[in-house]
Amino acid sequence: MSDTEKYTEVIKANIALHSKMSEHYNTCEPHFRPENIQKVEAKLVAAINSTKAEKLLDLGCGTGFMINIAKKYVKEITGVDVTQAMMDKVDLSGNAKITLINHDTGSVSLDFGTFDVITAYSFLHHLYDVHPTFSTAFKALKLGGKFYADLEPNYYFWEKIHQLDRNGKYNPIVKREIEMVTYKDEDIKKNFGVEKYIFNNAEFGKNIKGGFREEELTEQLHKAGFSNVDFFYHWYIGQGSLINNEQYSKEERFKYADVMDVVLQKILPLSKHLFKYIGFVATK
Ligand SMILES: C[S@@+](CC[C@H](N)C(=O)[O-])C[C@H]1O[C@@H](n2cnc3c(N)ncnc32)[C@H](O)[C@@H]1O
Repeated sequence: MSDTEKYTEVIKANIALHSKMSEHYNTCEPHFRPENIQKVEAKLVAAINSTKAEKLLDLGCGTGFMINIAKKYVKEITGVDVTQAMMDKVDLSGNAKITLINHDTGSVSLDFGTFDVITAYSFLHHLYDVHPTFSTAFKALKLGGKFYADLEPNYYFWEKIHQLDRNGKYNPIVKREIEMVTYKDEDIKKNFGVEKYIFNNAEFGKNIKGGFREEELTEQLHKAGFSNVDFFYHWYIGQGSLINNEQYSKEERFKYADVMDVVLQKILPLSKHLFKYIGFVATK
């Protein structure tokens, strides 16, 4: 199969998967939890403030996770997504003018040089090739504009988890990650009736490529024209169980989780494989 055919096949798999998931998407995806929204909002607000943003573009907008956060801060938002059923769920209320475009982000035609901030949340790993989408982002941004991408699978975490035995004697925290990372296709088949090969193609950058390395993303972002990129790693293994450990008060749980995070962040790159996700802010 040629690269062009593969690119199209991955888009078709995404439409098939997300058309089935759209109804339950906001309730079954953990990134909609308040503690995550709080983190994302802080990163987004920093990008918006530093560019005095009025116009934001959200790539792979889905049901509007990022749009819902951004609408409080900017005047105009454009969302692009290949799955109409996902965009049908976007809440258009509020003061921001929201425009939705049903298209592939790698070939969509936009007013270039007009956006202050571009976002891509839990999206890049759904692409066969990130380059056309990075080019769209670069062209669409104003000079000095920010491209914020987040919740992308960290290759180094995925690699370590793939090396573990499904029946190994590990703590439930580790066992859960093995199921989530290596056997999620079984869960999706059971709960949504989506064939494993469709799910794996739809999450090509995660399930077939095995996640993103900082080095690879840097190269691709430079190729698209970005010069300045800051990476960050987050959601370490065990953080969720610490936050939800009812043995402690809510305040204590969050405090302990933060203390652990501070230490793991300090000892990067040694702790790189403990963080599930990678994100970045690239400047044009
Ligand atoms: C995991 S969802 C993320 C949605 C949203 N950003 C969020 O954080 O909830 C991935 C989205 O990417 C969309 N998508 C996949 N490939 C695409 C492409 N080539 N162009 C535009 N959207 C695409 C899917 O339809 C889906 O809505």
